[in-house]
Amino acid sequence: LRPQTQTRSELSVRQVLPPDVLTRVSEYVPEIVEFVKKIVANGYGYESNGSVYFDTSKFDASPQHSYAKLVPEAVGDQKALQEGEGDLSISADRLSEKKSQNDFALWKASKPGEPSWDSPWGKGRPGWHIECSAMAGSILGQSMDIHGGGFDLRFPHHDNELAQSEAFFENDHWVRYFLHTGHLTIAGCKMSKSLKNFITIKDALAKNTARQLRLAFLMHSWKDTLDYSSNTMESAVQYEKFMNEFFLNVKDILRAPTDITGQFEKWEAAELELNNSFYDRKAAVHEALCDNMDTRTAMEEMRVLVSQSNSYIASRKSARLRPNRMLVESIAVYLTNMLKIFGAVEGSDAIGFPMGGQSHSIDLESTVMPYLTVLSDFREGVRRIAREQKVVELLELCDVVRDDTLPELGVRLEDHEGLPTVVKFVDREILLKEREEKKKMEEEKKKKKEEAARKKQEQEMAKLAKMKIPPCEMFRTETDKYSKFDETGFPTHDAEGKELSKGQAKKLRKLYEAQEKLHDEYLQMNQNGN
Ligand SMILES: *[C@@H]1O[C@H](CO)[C@@H](O)[C@H](O)[C@H]1NC(C)=O
Ligand SMILES: *[C@@H]1O[C@H](CO)[C@@H](O)[C@H](O)[C@H]1NC(C)=O
Ligand SMILES: [Zn+2]
Repeated sequence: LRPQTQTRSELSVRQVLPPDVLTRVSEYVPEIVEFVKKIVANGYGYESNGSVYFDTSKFDASPQHSYAKLVPEAVGDQKALQEGEGDLSISADRLSEKKSQNDFALWKASKPGEPSWDSPWGKGRPGWHIECSAMAGSILGQSMDIHGGGFDLRFPHHDNELAQSEAFFENDHWVRYFLHTGHLTIAGCKMSKSLKNFITIKDALAKNTARQLRLAFLMHSWKDTLDYSSNTMESAVQYEKFMNEFFLNVKDILRAPTDITGQFEKWEAAELELNNSFYDRKAAVHEALCDNMDTRTAMEEMRVLVSQSNSYIASRKSARLRPNRMLVESIAVYLTNMLKIFGAVEGSDAIGFPMGGQSHSIDLESTVMPYLTVLSDFREGVRRIAREQKVVELLELCDVVRDDTLPELGVRLEDHEGLPTVVKFVDREILLKEREEKKKMEEEKKKKKEEAARKKQEQEMAKLAKMKIPPCEMFRTETDKYSKFDETGFPTHDAEGKELSKGQAKKLRKLYEAQEKLHDEYLQMNQNGN
């Protein structure tokens, strides 16, 4: 529950905020009893055999009210009603307690052994829908701007909440807007306890970070079904990685030393083009969010903006030119702000996801980066000299720093030949995983190479074996095809004893001559070898 949001100054931080109030129904039974009493006093409820029911016909007949505003066509849907009431629903033999089948319980008499509270109608417990009305009503009063909930709660739950609350307040605007979110499914199936395919937030957080989960939600429309699966989460992880690499690259560009003239960067066609795309993408993000908060499209537009910026940066670098700092900075700041609005970036850094993982105690960027830059520049100098003077041991040492030492500390060095080394803070876990993958790929490459070498050797052995055979021997073994041979071992008759035709003989002669040549080569080779 979030009353009076406007008064909170932190709203300027524009993050996803925790609720101000969390309620528990067991603490609100007195309010619920008062709520039910007033509905009865207003004429929209009646007691029957220890329970109290809401009189849907009476309510609907009142000129100020109408029943089931959200899903009018569902009125009379007994199945939905029963599902909505759960184990509070009435058994068939007691249907006579209600004036109409459509009426629903505000208060239920408890059977012996069931939990119960005292009430003017005897021992009983709250009806399902009344809980929300009484709790929200006692905190937010007679009207609220937005009521959220799952799509499946529209009828009967929200319609009944609306009816009983408007019967209590005698108004017609208890809720101004409902936001009904799509279902969350697990690997394509609806979450349900009986199917045992539900996942707690704690479980989900053991597999992915809160940010990755938020990104997964943002990459879907809030009103559509979201399927929680390894695929869904993989896309979110990839999105985060894509954004993060961009932020790290921009930070590196901004970090490069600049003299006073370096601050004046002429805008050429490439910059004007990227600037235009930037404004187009910004407009598209705004439009998407105005269209029923379409975060999915907004996120996609942001991804396109990063791709365009990456192409721009790459083309500048390949032309040995520095990317325009102000422009890439503006883009990175804009994207960071959007992600802050979405609650996917915590902290107050102007660009990118906060550094240093979960512990925000020190600002790595400003405390450690100057030292890292010194190390990186020094290493670059050493590599250059080592390469010029061909000192392999030094080059290997430089690789160890990049591949083993620094990843352990959460630092990635990226060597780009002919360009300054890029220094990035990256999660240690991610770096170690990257190192594993690199190793695995190298091993696979090695295996493939060995395999290819083995095949080549086999082929050569086979060729050698073939070369060894003198032409006079080559057909003699094929007794399944030929029955007679001349003195040179050339076949004259086929297996059935028929003389070979001229055409057949011509074909075989070609093979014979080829083998002659091959065998000659072999003999020559042996002579030379010996
Ligand atoms: C009234 O409720 C009791 C149990 O609480 C039940 O045994 C009885 O049948 C109900 N009477 C009617 C008329 O439904
Ligand atoms: C960037 O593009 C926008 C929209 O086309 C334009 O208004 C703005 O002046 C451009 N900025 C520069 C520096 O060219
Ligand atoms: Zn509710």
